[in-house]
Amino acid sequence: MQGFAGKVAVVTGAGSGIGQALAIELGRSGAKLAISDIDTEGLAITEQRLKAIGVDVKADRLNVTEREAFQAYADGVKAHFGKVNQIYNNAGIAFSGDVEISQYKDIERIMDVDFWGVVNGTKVFLPYLIESGDGHIVNVSSLFGIFSVPGQAAYNAAKFAVRGFTEALRQEMILAKHPVKVTTVHPGGIKTAIARNSTVAEGLDQAAMASAFDKKLARTTPERAAQIILEAVRKNKARVLVGADAKILDVIVRITGSGYQQLFSTVLPKLAPPMR
Ligand SMILES: NC(=O)c1ccc[n+]([C@@H]2O[C@H](COP(=O)([O-])OP(=O)(O)OC[C@H]3O[C@@H](n4cnc5c(N)ncnc54)[C@H](O)[C@@H]3O)[C@@H](O)[C@H]2O)c1
Repeated sequence: MQGFAGKVAVVTGAGSGIGQALAIELGRSGAKLAISDIDTEGLAITEQRLKAIGVDVKADRLNVTEREAFQAYADGVKAHFGKVNQIYNNAGIAFSGDVEISQYKDIERIMDVDFWGVVNGTKVFLPYLIESGDGHIVNVSSLFGIFSVPGQAAYNAAKFAVRGFTEALRQEMILAKHPVKVTTVHPGGIKTAIARNSTVAEGLDQAAMASAFDKKLARTTPERAAQIILEAVRKNKARVLVGADAKILDVIVRITGSGYQQLFSTVLPKLAPPMR
């Protein structure tokens, strides 16, 4: 893909799924990569695959919730490559459980990783992206950042927050005339390990829910998702919907307004009983 040659791109959560596919596609397109994850085994696989195609790659263990470590990491990436052009704040986790049975710690953990991880990545890299003269921040929200579903209140809250934060940031960069583009990503169901890696509230069947996600909801490959995301980045899109499911449901939500809540709470239990 054109437009990425010579750019230094940072990808969090690059040891699996969408992050791994983004890193590989960016590498193929000529970018230099700073990849990170808490999962060092997955990260090592991404690193090996990038090295095998001759990509200049720096791989580090990083927990996106650890703000001081993230700052040190950003400084290290800048020192290593001399500049930073793009950050893909991709690392994320899932949790299922109705509000009534979710613990505060469950909700806080999702906000810590899925929202604060994105805020940390944005803030620590922003000065370097401005300095580069050609920056881009790509924040991964979700289709669940466009509408809410029962059992996903914590994840919905984090992903709506990412969307709000990122959409404001894009306008701020334009107003300040900073050379930093900003894109929010809303994937539909992508064939990754996210559901298998997820946690659930007490009493729910994690394995059954993960299996239902893998079989019924995950439709798009991470490789295709990465191509769609990078095409949107190249075109400086404000928002990218990934997958036919994301596009269709976005339209339904826009047509029905708040009416989707009545519709989904009636229809969803019939479509995906194990999720409830
Ligand atoms: N798969 C989907 O259907 C889907 C849909 C919408 C949005 N998303 C979002 O896409 C992003 C990528 O998810 P994925 O589907 O590739 O899942 P995945 O589980 O395959 O990959 C996520 C990666 O993030 C890493 N990670 C988790 N917590 C971390 C932390 N605290 N610090 C650093 N790394 C951490 C994991 O180790 C893993 O390698 C997430 O933000 C997710 O919410 C996924």
